[in-house]
Amino acid sequence: MKDKLKLGLFGYGIVGQGLHDVLNSNNGLRAEIVKICVKDKSKKRRIPMDYFTYDKNDLLNDPKINLIVELIDDADEAYSIVTTAMKHGKDVVTANKKMVAEHLQELVELQEETQTSFLYEASTCGSIPIIRNLEEYYDNELLYSVRGIFNGSSNFILSKMFNDGNEYADVLKEAQELGFAETDPSLDVDGIDAKYKLVIITLHAYGLFIDPDAVFTLGISKISKYDINYAREKGFKIKLVPTVTKLNDTDIGMFVLPRFISSGKYLYNVDYEYNGVVAEAAFSDKQFFYGKGAGGHPTGSAVLSDISACTYDYKYEYKKKNQHSVRRYSTDMLVEIYLRYYQKYDIEDIKFQSVSEYYYGNNHNYLIGVINLKDLISIQEKLKTRDIFIVNTGRKFD
Ligand code: HSE
Repeated sequence: MKDKLKLGLFGYGIVGQGLHDVLNSNNGLRAEIVKICVKDKSKKRRIPMDYFTYDKNDLLNDPKINLIVELIDDADEAYSIVTTAMKHGKDVVTANKKMVAEHLQELVELQEETQTSFLYEASTCGSIPIIRNLEEYYDNELLYSVRGIFNGSSNFILSKMFNDGNEYADVLKEAQELGFAETDPSLDVDGIDAKYKLVIITLHAYGLFIDPDAVFTLGISKISKYDINYAREKGFKIKLVPTVTKLNDTDIGMFVLPRFISSGKYLYNVDYEYNGVVAEAAFSDKQFFYGKGAGGHPTGSAVLSDISACTYDYKYEYKKKNQHSVRRYSTDMLVEIYLRYYQKYDIEDIKFQSVSEYYYGNNHNYLIGVINLKDLISIQEKLKTRDIFIVNTGRKFD
């Protein structure tokens, strides 16, 4: 149990300021920001300038500071800050999903070596406490699958297009202005941000370290009015739904793809910047978590919860990793997809196991059929360059 947390904060952007507000309105927590390290010397700040430094060592080498809170955009710099902090015996709280997902195994090992706390609830689904729940509540549960809406910006764009009839480019700009989107918004719309979050969730749900590059990922940037019309006619919405699922006793499969969602489903009403997570398990059955996935205060609240956990030396135990029940990530998995395309040559190398529906029109064409994910992975880079749109139908098939 720590007497008082002395915080060194990296970054004072949307989340950093959100955290500051959240901290200021909290009376019970024994935590105080000692210093804030920022990059931009010209930016006007809303608190006294003597809080700020531009030299990371002022925080990392300060023996008074016992907790580093890392909320910057640059994943490489974040990695350097976080690893140095742990090596200096400081606890770390971070919201940087790219940095966490890309170095997960090494960071977990470093945390074990240095006996520090390394917490990252805010990296995954903003205000939804999904990591802590997977760690503590589902620690002995047989999880069949975890899926959901993990990216607020792409969900904001899809909701505005579906519910309000807005154009893709306009709503992307709006998501950027509202501060949900990444500095490089292709991370949001191409599913990469969601993939990082899926990789983090997978470690806590199944105990496996997955290389993000090995996860099949296609986002929403190629969506067209034809896809929206198709979904609407059938009573569906289209959502970007990262999924990890048990394939058998020892293997899991995972991917990031848009998915058709019918009106009875939990994710149907998860709109705008909200996130939702559906966990399916043997005993607890289906459970649904819902909350704001982006923005300063919601993300700040998750950071606050991790800071609070550091006061009692909370650490993730990675219980599923130590149970060794799931042993392999397999890409050999059948998925039913809707594939919209314009040019026949764009789909000639896509191998379907079976096709149940096809449409050839004047303006566009589509197919519905079953594919093996490993066949799609083998042409993933080529698929990204084509004007096609793929949606997981979510249907069970024989
Ligand atoms: N760009 C991210 C999103 C921010 O839209 O969900 C929160 O991780």
